[in-house]
Amino acid sequence: MCGIIGYTGTEDVKEVLLNALELLEYRGYDSAGIAVKEDAQTKIYKCAGRVKDLRLICESEKFLSGCGIGHTRWATHGGVTGTNAHPHRVGNVTLVHNGIIENYRELAAHYELEEQLKSETDSEVVAALLNRYYEGQPNETIKEVVTKLKGTYALVILFDDQPGVIYSVRNVSPIVATICDEGAMLASDLTALCRFTNRYFVVPENYILKLEKTKLTLTDFAGREVEPEFLTVDWELNSAGKNGYPFYMEKEIMEQPDAITRTIESRITGGLPDFSAEGIPDSLFTDCERITIVACGTAMHAGLVAQALVKSILHMHIEVEMASEFMYSDPVIDKKTLVIAVSQSGETIDTLEALKYAKRRGAKCLSIINVKGSSIARESDYVLYTDAGPEIAVASTKAYTTQLAVFYLLVAKMAFSRGIFGTEDTQSFVRELQRTPDAIKKVLEKRREIHVLAGRVLDAKDLFMIGRGLDHSILLEGSLKLKEVSYIHSEAYASGELKHGPIALITQNTPVVAAVTQEKLMAKEISNIKEVKSRGADVVVFIKGAIAESLQGEYPSFVLPDMRDEYMVMPASVALQLLAYYVSSDKGFDVDKPRNLAKVVTVE
Ligand code: G6P
Repeated sequence: MCGIIGYTGTEDVKEVLLNALELLEYRGYDSAGIAVKEDAQTKIYKCAGRVKDLRLICESEKFLSGCGIGHTRWATHGGVTGTNAHPHRVGNVTLVHNGIIENYRELAAHYELEEQLKSETDSEVVAALLNRYYEGQPNETIKEVVTKLKGTYALVILFDDQPGVIYSVRNVSPIVATICDEGAMLASDLTALCRFTNRYFVVPENYILKLEKTKLTLTDFAGREVEPEFLTVDWELNSAGKNGYPFYMEKEIMEQPDAITRTIESRITGGLPDFSAEGIPDSLFTDCERITIVACGTAMHAGLVAQALVKSILHMHIEVEMASEFMYSDPVIDKKTLVIAVSQSGETIDTLEALKYAKRRGAKCLSIINVKGSSIARESDYVLYTDAGPEIAVASTKAYTTQLAVFYLLVAKMAFSRGIFGTEDTQSFVRELQRTPDAIKKVLEKRREIHVLAGRVLDAKDLFMIGRGLDHSILLEGSLKLKEVSYIHSEAYASGELKHGPIALITQNTPVVAAVTQEKLMAKEISNIKEVKSRGADVVVFIKGAIAESLQGEYPSFVLPDMRDEYMVMPASVALQLLAYYVSSDKGFDVDKPRNLAKVVTVE
């Protein structure tokens, strides 16, 4: 969590830092700060609140140098206060930190640093320790200090006597860096850099990075210089902007047809799924006896859809595990297990740790990731990247549907390679996937209708979502989306379970959102809708076009474009995303930055 930027170059440093922090704010947004080096002086501006508040504080400042560092915080150690905000400065050292230093109390006590500390943070202890050891040799000092740290860290450091120079070192917490015409820069993720360049590298763990205006140097702890391994990302240079939309979430919802097209088309040859570019052998799919999906949040919900498909099409044993619970639940994992990690950021620590655990148990690991070169991608045996482009809104939308798109291709590939689908079955399954961008476009074109339906749940305190089978899987995600951005308490129930308890919560005018997209389940789903309706619920229905008549106009509804049942997930999910979006924006919330949340969760 926490966003980090470091820049040394020819541009206006204040603008570079603040613009980058705005783009990184999705990583954490309870406080923000920058430090700019002016000759031997280091000026710090920081506050509790958003980057826009920080902007006000340094509005009138003009800096001559082009070197500085910045941070947006998601509080772990110490409350949300200006003093706890980064950067932290002790003596000649100024730093920003992402991660958690687990032994910070012991270090502060052992090295008698307490008197120098002003904040309650673990990070300031590192600044104090660096200052204690610093004798004009940055690399030596950094090496000395980090060997004493337990925990995770991305540290970005300024030493007073090193004008124009930034140092960085990391363990687990990510840092990417680049150099281009405007200077050298680093950040906790690519979104802050891709305005400048498409080339970047992931700073390896336990290497020291030194940034100067026209040069960057990567050195290992033995003092040997190494060449960074640059990657290229095909994100457009301005793709991290809002493109005229009031919120990133709306922009990202609207981008889904293109994102899905990009994700699937390069992986289809002769109408069949083709992962040869990723070097994935068919044996990965034919040798495994069971599948385990590990993921968190929305990515885990994508896994739930995949689970239903794998069961019904491949008839294989499959489990979807919350990554945070995985290791502690004695999972059944062995050499015959294919473990699939799903993550937009590729940095979620629980998913990363789950993957490492599975590898230790001998499983083969494939990951579905959006951010190239991220930690989970690097840890995996094989990677299928989603091509969603940068996703900035905390609530995930296009990452989810592109993850689903990859899962459809995977299921088709497995069915084909295991002899369950013949060529024609596979081609027809893949053709339907290729229709999803158009089906989603139809939902987007009618989004005003969803906006009207959103009005019916706007004032709800509690809301229920009901459906069966795949409908239940997508409602879990729809419900999460609504919770995160609108703060309405929302629960998704398998509608058959209603009678076993939850129906007690349905009273006059309780809002209920129902999904009816599976033809074989339709009759039962409609009965369940009637059950809640007859207890006073105010029901809104999202229904597949081909079966919409069965409602006989009894309920306010949104009619979804027709697809094969297993693909109805795609248009229906987008409709539910829009519902959450409109409720949140109509309530006047900051849709992209819901309270207490962060987009990239790098603490356990
Ligand atoms: C956070 C985000 C969610 C996301 C989850 C998993 O909670 O707010 O939107 O689904 O992390 O993130 P990942 O990057 O692993 O997909």
